Amino acid sequence: MERTIEFPTYRDLMKDKKILYYISRSDYFLKEMGYTDHGIKHAGWVAEKARFVLLETIGDRRKAELAGIAGLLHDIGHVISRHDHAQNGAIIAYNLLKEKGFFDDDLTEITYAIGNHEEETGIPATEVASALVIADKSHVHRSRVRDERNIFQDIHDRVNYAVLDADLEVEKENRIIRLVLRIDTEISDLLDYFSIFQPRMEMCRRATERLGFKFRLRINDTDL
Ligand SMILES: [Fe+2]
Ligand SMILES: [Fe+2]
Repeated sequence: MERTIEFPTYRDLMKDKKILYYISRSDYFLKEMGYTDHGIKHAGWVAEKARFVLLETIGDRRKAELAGIAGLLHDIGHVISRHDHAQNGAIIAYNLLKEKGFFDDDLTEITYAIGNHEEETGIPATEVASALVIADKSHVHRSRVRDERNIFQDIHDRVNYAVLDADLEVEKENRIIRLVLRIDTEISDLLDYFSIFQPRMEMCRRATERLGFKFRLRINDTDL
């Protein structure tokens, strides 16, 4: 039987001052290091999509909420360092959520997911971790570029800037999770996209398979 939800939802946590503080501090350090936006817009998008992916695939409300919470907190490890931010973030999330009375079963689902969300070190071996990976790796968007003057020097900024629209769709009948992108190919061609995001797309594919679905990419109305 599916367990009832006995913890605050990600939307409740999005109103929590301390959690918002950690997200904004992480984003501050990332900005200083020259990375794209990882603030509440990124955290909120990833939380919403991770939750949506599990609701639409396995349909487990508790796990979907846990994926939402993992999505909200997944990048807070940047208050320590970019390197190992996934593992460090899992420990910080553990402490923040323990204070709020989360049970160990729920905490450990969240810590595993956060600790395994980066392609260099992560193995998305659970449903919650898989949903987080799919949502996080899909969030490519113009709004993540902090300064459009960088788009000619920085390939990450250029590719993000070229993406006008990004969305995740779940096609239950065909068991497909699809990332749908609209890219301005005048700004960045598809080779740019794949040259930096190929490992991410590969991780998405593995995560999607963990949910028993197939990963598909549609760019400018063309299925790839
Ligand atoms: Fe990350
Ligand atoms: Fe992220």
